[in-house]
Amino acid sequence: MKIQTFASYEDMSRSAAEAIAAVVRAKPTAVLGLATGSTPIGTYRHLVRMYQEGTLDFSRVTTVNLDEYIGLSGTHEQSYRYFMEDHLFRHVNIDPARTFLPDGMAPDPVAEGHRYDQLVADLGGTDIQLLGIGFDGHIGFNEPCGEFVKPTHPVDLDPSTIQANARFFASEAEVPRRAITMGMGAIMGAHRVLLLASGQGKKAVFDASANGPIVPQVPASILQLHPDVTMMFAEG
Ligand code: F6R
Repeated sequence: MKIQTFASYEDMSRSAAEAIAAVVRAKPTAVLGLATGSTPIGTYRHLVRMYQEGTLDFSRVTTVNLDEYIGLSGTHEQSYRYFMEDHLFRHVNIDPARTFLPDGMAPDPVAEGHRYDQLVADLGGTDIQLLGIGFDGHIGFNEPCGEFVKPTHPVDLDPSTIQANARFFASEAEVPRRAITMGMGAIMGAHRVLLLASGQGKKAVFDASANGPIVPQVPASILQLHPDVTMMFAEG
């Protein structure tokens, strides 16, 4: 595991975007595993800039996102599909038909999880998986619990996650209580993992994930078992 520390969020974001761009340049048909939340926004901004500068081509890239809220359609402004359109997809030359997220409106979220895992498997896994990390150590929406869950699956969000995500909604009551998340199987199946964390509030959970015991109560700690992980931390 490589740990990289940056003085600023901006420096981390540029470096993360360069790492993703390097994957796409080496393999124009790359499959990118993507995340939402506030942390990767700077990374997406730099990827868009590279596209605009003509140094990055998304035309043959495929993306698979980590998660989606259950009950929100892709046109809902707080859906993760909407987020991705807003921050990346509609600003670059990606084929919309090659951008995938779990379907939050699927009538059977368990079956949707299986479908999504099959999709990721059929794509050959992700070439690089971008991750943020929750204050409770979650990756995707794999919340702390008694075991590492392998398949993509529906989850009840932790009260702390609902509270943390309330900033994107008009009120905490509007935050969906459930999501579908990529499981640890697909995350650990990525050829390479890039985890980003920013700010002193994430320092303790970042350190516990990188150096603490590998336990499902700190879901990101499983990454210690992956052969090619870079964890980036921005001090400010
Ligand atoms: C988002 C996701 C989550 C976030 C995490 C951190 O797709 O899977 O695990 O990465 O909640 O969110 P921010 O970056 O908003 O602190």
